[in-house]
Amino acid sequence: MSNANFSDWRNHPIVQVPEYDNPAELLQAEQTLRGYPPLVFAGEVRALKAELAKVAQGKAFLLQGGDCAESFADFSADNIRDTFKVLLQMAIALTFGAGVPVVKVARMAGQFAKPRSSGTETRDGVTLPSYRGDIINNIEFTEAARRPDPNRMLQAYHQSSATLNLIRAFSRGGYADLHRVHQWTQDFVEKSGHTERYGQLANEISRALSFMNACGLTSQATPIVRETICYTSHEALLLPYEEALTRIDSTTENKKTGYRGDAVCCSAHMIWIGDRTRQLDGAHIAFCKEVINPIGMKCGPSLQADDLLRLIDALNPKNEPGRLTLIARFGADKIGDHLPALIRKVQSEGRSVIWSCDPMHGNTVSAEGGYKTRPFDKILSETKQFFEIHKAEGSYAGGVHFEMTGKNVTECLGGSTHDITEDELSNRYETLCDPRLNGSQALELAFLLSEALQREAENG
Ligand code: PEP
Ligand code: CO
Repeated sequence: MSNANFSDWRNHPIVQVPEYDNPAELLQAEQTLRGYPPLVFAGEVRALKAELAKVAQGKAFLLQGGDCAESFADFSADNIRDTFKVLLQMAIALTFGAGVPVVKVARMAGQFAKPRSSGTETRDGVTLPSYRGDIINNIEFTEAARRPDPNRMLQAYHQSSATLNLIRAFSRGGYADLHRVHQWTQDFVEKSGHTERYGQLANEISRALSFMNACGLTSQATPIVRETICYTSHEALLLPYEEALTRIDSTTENKKTGYRGDAVCCSAHMIWIGDRTRQLDGAHIAFCKEVINPIGMKCGPSLQADDLLRLIDALNPKNEPGRLTLIARFGADKIGDHLPALIRKVQSEGRSVIWSCDPMHGNTVSAEGGYKTRPFDKILSETKQFFEIHKAEGSYAGGVHFEMTGKNVTECLGGSTHDITEDELSNRYETLCDPRLNGSQALELAFLLSEALQREAENG
C-alpha cells in the first residue's frame, strides 16, 4: 500500500473554485481548520461503507436528501429538526415498501459550496463574482459581499459541527423513535386529506409496529426501535476545505511497510463529485481517489459509457462494494436515452456500484417571474423511469437523492396535498440555490415510491 497523497489535487486542473485574492489569508484559514477536531470519525465512515455495500448487493436501500445549499442565515434548531424529521418519515415509508433497511444520508452539516454555470453575474450593467455558497461568499449583490472570503470556511465548519451534534442527539436521544415518527406520518395523512390514498400504507405500518410491540420489541427494550443512525454528506467542491479536514487514521498505520494509515475526509461521512467537476484528470477526482470515504458521483447527460468506466476505475480501483454511488440526474425526458447504456457498461464490466436516482437536477425549469422551479410530476416521472429501466436491465435501483426541506416552502410546482401553482411560487420561495421539495411533497414522493417498491417486491 502506498501513502495517500490528498494534496495531489493541487497538481491537477481545477474548475468551479473561487479566486481568493489574499493567499496568506487562505493559508491561515486552512491552517486553523487543520487544527480543528474532525467532524466525523473513521470508524463511522467505515460503518457507512459497510451499510452501502449491502445496498450495492441489493440488500438495503439508500435515502439521501436535504438542502441544495445550507445557509448561515437559516441556521436554526427548528430547520435542522424539520428536515431531519421528514427524512425519518420518508425512511419509514421506504423501509416498509422496500422491505430492506434504509441507509439514511443527509445533505446536511456541510452542504455549503455550489457549482455555478457562470463565474460572474451581471445586473443592470454591474458584473460581480457569482454567489458560490455561504462557505465562499455572500449572496447579496455588492462587491464586498461577493468577495470570496476564506474565513467563511471556519463559520461553515462551526455550523456543520453544531448541526451534526443536533442530528446525533436526535438520532440517539429518543426523538427518532419509530412510534413517534410514525405518529407524525399519521398526522400528515390525516391533514393532507389523502386518507384514502396514503391511509392504507400508514395503517399497515401501524399494525406492524403493534405487532413488534406485542413481541416485546418495545422502545424501552430495543435500541433499534428507539434510535437511528443518520450519516452526513455534501458535495466535495471546495477542496481547500476538504483537504484541511482530511485526517490520517492512525489505527490503520503499518510501521513495517511504512504505511501511515488511511486518509479519511472528516468533513462528512460521504462526499460526492458534482456533474460539472467529474473530469477524469481533474482536481476533484484526484482528491476523492485518495480518501477512503464512500464517494458519490453525479452522472448527467454528457457522460459517455466509456468515460464512466474510466471514472469508476479511478475512484474504485479495487471494485469495493459500497465505495461508489452513481447518482443519475438526467431529467425525465432524457433518462431513457442515457441510463440504459451506462447500466449495461457497468454490468458487462462487472463493476460494483450503487445506482441512485437524483430526479431534481435534470428537471429544473424557469417559471414566470424568473423563478427556478421543478414540477413534481417530472420528479416523479424520472424516479419511476429510473426503477423501470433498472428492472428491465436486471440491475438494482439502490437509492434516491432529493433536494428537500422540512419547511413549508413553495419552490417546486405541484404535489397533491397542496398543488403549488406558478402564481404561488413567490409566497415562500426561500432557497439560495435550487428549488427544494417541501415537507409534504417529499413525504408524498416517499409514499408513492414505497407503494411502487412494495408492488415490485410482491411481484418478485
Ligand atoms: C447539487 O446536487 O446540488 C448539484 C449541483 O448537482 P449536479 O452536480 O448534479 O448538478
Ligand atoms: Co442543487
